[in-house]
Amino acid sequence: MQTSPKENSHLSSFEEWEDFLKQRYPDSPSAGDSRKKPEGFRDYRAEPRASVKEFYRLNHTYQTREFVLGKQKEFASRGRARMGIWEAMEYLNTLVDDSDPDTDLPQIEHLLQTAEACRRDGRPRWFILTGLVHDLGKILCLWGEPQWAVVGDTFPVGCAYSPKIVFSELFTANPDSAVTQYQTRLGIYTEGCGLDKVDMSWGHDEYMYRVVRDYLPEEARYVIRYHSFYPAHKEGEYEYLMNERDKQMFRWVREFQHYDLYSKVPERPDPQELRPYYEALISEYFPPQISW
Ligand SMILES: [Fe+2]
Ligand SMILES: [Fe+2]
Repeated sequence: MQTSPKENSHLSSFEEWEDFLKQRYPDSPSAGDSRKKPEGFRDYRAEPRASVKEFYRLNHTYQTREFVLGKQKEFASRGRARMGIWEAMEYLNTLVDDSDPDTDLPQIEHLLQTAEACRRDGRPRWFILTGLVHDLGKILCLWGEPQWAVVGDTFPVGCAYSPKIVFSELFTANPDSAVTQYQTRLGIYTEGCGLDKVDMSWGHDEYMYRVVRDYLPEEARYVIRYHSFYPAHKEGEYEYLMNERDKQMFRWVREFQHYDLYSKVPERPDPQELRPYYEALISEYFPPQISW
């Protein structure tokens, strides 16, 4: 049993986790495949911040299969709010970022900067929209979910942990480590069963996928659902659980990941100036309000 599932971590903002990812997965011409990482990049194991390590400790301890199935059920009804996409962006922005008192719009800025980078590169409309909405699931934090159940690199539950998951040694504290059935290569799954049959650790990706799945095309759904699945899209792990469709769709997950991590620029986007363009784009795919 989980002794303290509400225990919170000490990240002063999601940026601490995201900065750590940038350090672990530096941008490079071969972005999308860390196996080709050039020599000389910083070793991510060099002194992670204590808050980041503590965050991973909680995430790896409490993300059990039982916890994941419970959250899937708890959020299945989506009766928490009726909001449009832009409204949800403004709502997410009420999440206070302790670490950055000079930035009063950190969340909406990341979404707009990601979308604007996709737009500048002439990406398809659905891809730009994916940039705009991909992190809206972080509103889970505003509904009292602890950080370790909202962000963090995601991984399958119910089968062996890949040693390439960040701080995989911390899984020894996870009760699933003692469940023999969950600790074989395939665990409860079958070879090539397809990721749709695989339960992923719970967080903003899986939640947001469930919110948007009736509205967005398949490629967008993949990007949203697996954009934090770093063990797969950056490390090449868990391919044996994927079917052919997953492998094709992961091309988009890898392409998107570049915009997610590296689109931060000093120039701050002006939400009100950009709003008409994005409201038009939103209305191509979404009704005025959706259930959260
Ligand atoms: Fe994200
Ligand atoms: Fe993001």
